[in-house]
Amino acid sequence: MANIVIVGTQWGDEGKGKIVDMLAADADAVVRFQGGNNAGHTMVVRGEQIISHLVPSGILQGKLCMIGNGLVVDPAVLTEEIDYLVGKGIKVDADNLKISERAQLIMPYHKLVDHARELMKGDKKIGTTGRGIGPAYEDKATRRGIRFVDLLDPEIFREKVEVIMKEKNFYLEHFLNAETADPEAVISEYAKYAERLAPHVCNISVVMDEILTSGKQLLFEGAQGTHLDIDHGTYPFVTSSNTVSGNACCGAGIGPGKISDVYGIVKAYTTRVGAGPFPTELFDDVGDSIQKKGAEFGATTGRKRRCGWLDTVILENAVRLNGLTGLVVTKLDVLGGLDELKICTAYQYGDETLRHFPANLNVLGKCEPVYESLPGWSEDISGIRTFEDLPENTRNYLKRIEELTGVSVQIISVGPGREETIVLKNPLK
Ligand code: GDP
Ligand code: IMO
Ligand code: MG
Repeated sequence: MANIVIVGTQWGDEGKGKIVDMLAADADAVVRFQGGNNAGHTMVVRGEQIISHLVPSGILQGKLCMIGNGLVVDPAVLTEEIDYLVGKGIKVDADNLKISERAQLIMPYHKLVDHARELMKGDKKIGTTGRGIGPAYEDKATRRGIRFVDLLDPEIFREKVEVIMKEKNFYLEHFLNAETADPEAVISEYAKYAERLAPHVCNISVVMDEILTSGKQLLFEGAQGTHLDIDHGTYPFVTSSNTVSGNACCGAGIGPGKISDVYGIVKAYTTRVGAGPFPTELFDDVGDSIQKKGAEFGATTGRKRRCGWLDTVILENAVRLNGLTGLVVTKLDVLGGLDELKICTAYQYGDETLRHFPANLNVLGKCEPVYESLPGWSEDISGIRTFEDLPENTRNYLKRIEELTGVSVQIISVGPGREETIVLKNPLK
């Protein structure tokens, strides 16, 4: 029996959704443990593209899906997403979608604060997704958050909303010069979500324990990426939760001894949406061609993703921080047709060669990537299904990633479709 955590190793959008969907075939339940609808996970099944923001990517395989206590959930988005999935003929009901009673709610004032703060920051903005993620986690940490368990108790919900909205509206109006929200409107809007979502709400820790006791397998789906982690990422240009594998335990409610495998998703090049340092970013035609061929647009906000070469300094960081036991290399097909591929192996900071990712953003901003160059391949590899059939230069690129990270590549993705995958080792099988 195996229980696996899937995390992004870079700055998000590595292809986690596709891989979780594919691996979910052999799992008994899929659990999200952090983030909110800042995530956008794309799955392509029989040519149809489906994007989820909150519902775990196991839903297309008909698996039990759970939303952990570590998430901040916008109930307006969740109910819309359930309708969207049901509209596509996918079964989503109280039997196969469970929400932790301890998960935090994103409230309308969180979104107003998120937008207004970004506006106020001007060119110093983080480039958040504007979904209220940071303000919701902030209220969780200051113990003023509202949880699903509160939503289901109208008296407690009203009391909490009335108290907190006095302060939020004052802050919005007098400090942020922004629109305020009406508590009565919020209370009646959320009463509808309470009614709709109540059947899904439960103690998911107990559900997972029963699953584990009966010898079944869990798959934990990370959102964002290691370098957007609030502690380990490019702070403050990060999201507001821990995205690393350790948080699968905390954000879902199981002990670390239950996790057997941690796979890190590595896009074959690097992308980033929003502001913040990105040492291997490309500003030339190569960057443009990767952006176009990889269709690198944000699945949540539609923003163009910044593109650059593969960076093994950040991968080394991700291997260590997550305890990766395997790598999944995605979007390898996108690199086809380039004569030369570059891999960053270290950062040059003045006279110093850095092999570990620096915490100081001023240092990071002055780092020059040290590259090694590898020959590219011209073949279209999207139809290939075995490692041996890949062109020699593609195999060498993968082998070099293994050498530089010290971790084996276990799954290779050569296209967005579920079947466009080469599986060397699936721990759930
Ligand atoms: P996530 O947030 O990590 O789940 O990733 P996103 O869904 O935001 O972005 C990944 C994008 O790449 C999606 O549009 C996927 O359909 C697509 N994708 C995933 N794997 C591959 C692959 O191997 N090749 C190509 N060409 N596209 C892929
Ligand atoms: P998935 O799960 C890429 C980025 C935002 C911004 C920063 C903070 O699809 O990989 P937030 O709204 O979280 O306060 O924004 O984090 N960001 C993501 N970038 N993929 C994501 O999710 C992201 N979620 C947040 O662009 O830079
Ligand atoms: Mg995404």
